[in-house]
Amino acid sequence: MIPFTITPNTTPTDAAIRTAKLADPGFGKVFTDHMVMIRYVEGDGWQDAEVKARAPLSLDPAAAVLHYAQEIFEGMKAYKLGDGNAALFRPDANARRFNESAHRMAMPAVPEDVFIKSVEELVKIDRDWFPSAEGGTLYLRPFMIASEAFLGVRPAREYLFMVIASAAGPYFKGDAGAISIWVSEHYTRAARGGTGAAKCGGNYASSLIAQAEAISKGHDQVVFLDAVENRWVEELGGMNVFFVFEDGSLRTPPLGGTILPGITRDALLTLAHDSGLSVCEERYSIDQWQDDARSGKLVEAFACGTAAVVTPIGTVTGEKRSFVIGAGGPGQLTEKLRQQLVNIQRGIAPDPHNWLRRLS
Ligand SMILES: Cc1ncc(COP(=O)(O)O)c(C=O)c1O
Repeated sequence: MIPFTITPNTTPTDAAIRTAKLADPGFGKVFTDHMVMIRYVEGDGWQDAEVKARAPLSLDPAAAVLHYAQEIFEGMKAYKLGDGNAALFRPDANARRFNESAHRMAMPAVPEDVFIKSVEELVKIDRDWFPSAEGGTLYLRPFMIASEAFLGVRPAREYLFMVIASAAGPYFKGDAGAISIWVSEHYTRAARGGTGAAKCGGNYASSLIAQAEAISKGHDQVVFLDAVENRWVEELGGMNVFFVFEDGSLRTPPLGGTILPGITRDALLTLAHDSGLSVCEERYSIDQWQDDARSGKLVEAFACGTAAVVTPIGTVTGEKRSFVIGAGGPGQLTEKLRQQLVNIQRGIAPDPHNWLRRLS
């Protein structure tokens, strides 16, 4: 593996200021003192791996990322365990997905061990940045940008791989309740053959208007329908979705290149299988969702992802519809699955699939 140089920040955040920031960090706005940066040059490969003080970047204004959006990222968390140590949850899965995104965006792969070491070194050096509240996590953001100064349209020949970290409380405010979903009937997120399964910035840029529409109508999140028939439920702006039926079975939209293959989604499918629940990965239409919610056949629905963990969906509204799921609040199976997952992530429950990677 390439060598890492570790240069601690000589002017870290004052401890009292850090403590104040960590009392209620919210999501995505309290950043730690360090970052990882590794350079890539075509022909020479990855080099100059550094853990160093977090600082603004200096980029040439012609850097390809600024023009053609050659950018990918990951979202993962470090969890605080009961013994005070930290652990990552399935970092190998994030590394693999990162490289699948890299492939789709014509970017170089980052060796899995380099990806994981980068994340681990950052958590180690910034281990004092876990929020003080129970269940607080460090949200980790590995990303890669095309840094070559060149305006021709072709894959860049120079890249930066970086990792930054942010103290994270709950993604949704008042996380005990259920969220309200807005159905995007005008804007779609991804089409077959496109970049829907890649975690590239462009997917999020094009989803923002629909998410803003959801917020302006008083909802928490947008749900996208498929781009061909505008009828099959795909995923939320930043989460996958599950449906729970009265017979205790579960359903989630299949991976087909248009949705992100969520690591939480995969973990929940595995936990559901382990518990002997019947689960299927099959398409589900928005009309069927509405009919089943109204008839009582569908009793719960939830969103899932690294940031949102498992969050119940209470209501679904669109231009042509409005319906309530169950009693509009958290459901039993949703809560059970959430607890099972969280207990593994915090090292409280056994980890039969070896998902936790403890930091020494
Ligand atoms: C569009 C989208 N779908 C699904 C997910 C859930 O993925 P994961 O469980 O790997 O966080 C995310 C979150 O990162 C996302 O941004």
